[in-house]
Amino acid sequence: MRKQIVAGNWKMNNDYVDSELLVSKLLEQHTHSQTEVIIAPPFTSLLSSSNSLKGSQITVAAQNMHYAENGAYTGEVSAAMLKGVGVQTVILGHSERRAYFGETDALLAKKVDAALQHNIRVIFCFGEELADRKSGNEEAIVEGQIKNALFHLPASAWEQIVLAYEPVWAIGTGETASPEQAQDMHNFIRQTIANKYSSGLAAEVSILYGGSVKPANAKEIFSKADVDGGLIGGAALDVTQFTAIINAF
Ligand code: PGA
Repeated sequence: MRKQIVAGNWKMNNDYVDSELLVSKLLEQHTHSQTEVIIAPPFTSLLSSSNSLKGSQITVAAQNMHYAENGAYTGEVSAAMLKGVGVQTVILGHSERRAYFGETDALLAKKVDAALQHNIRVIFCFGEELADRKSGNEEAIVEGQIKNALFHLPASAWEQIVLAYEPVWAIGTGETASPEQAQDMHNFIRQTIANKYSSGLAAEVSILYGGSVKPANAKEIFSKADVDGGLIGGAALDVTQFTAIINAF
């Protein structure tokens, strides 16, 4: 079902103590809203954050997971392990995972399948690099990323998929796509899904924008017809900024 969502990706920030502090501040400032709020702390804070958030409207997501059920994969965490600590959502395909850890579309397809098998919702990230946009290839790149990792799924699986368009050139750079650039791409993404599945299904998918979303630009970006919310990095570490972004809807 299409919803307004604001998700905070903490990346490799906040140890256990800092996480507890940030969660308690967030609970203090968060008021009941229509917008779904998700935070994605590091693995070491998932259990404590999920416990602290019990009874609130805010839920936790993991930033990554492995596709295997279990086994000899040193340093990895499985879907079942995430489920066991209260995780309902996982971020997959973030550009930092693709760039620094070599994650490919084929690998991500396996991770998506594993998450869905465990009834974990996926926030699937993708986006073009600056060179792609400069050469006018952004739509082809984005279409390929979605197709290769998600188009093997049956229509029914899409209930558990949230998309996050994050142009790589806008992540952590302070440079944001203009609201029009975001809208154009989100509209293209919805059309791509409509062509493969149906316009009914495409209309129900939540598509988030990510890349230097701040309180100052959130309202304008979120006001666009095909933008259903944001995946927030840097500003999610500051409770005042994150709350302001949630309230921008
Ligand atoms: P940013 O990160 O808001 O710091 O640009 C977004 C993201 O990486 O998801």
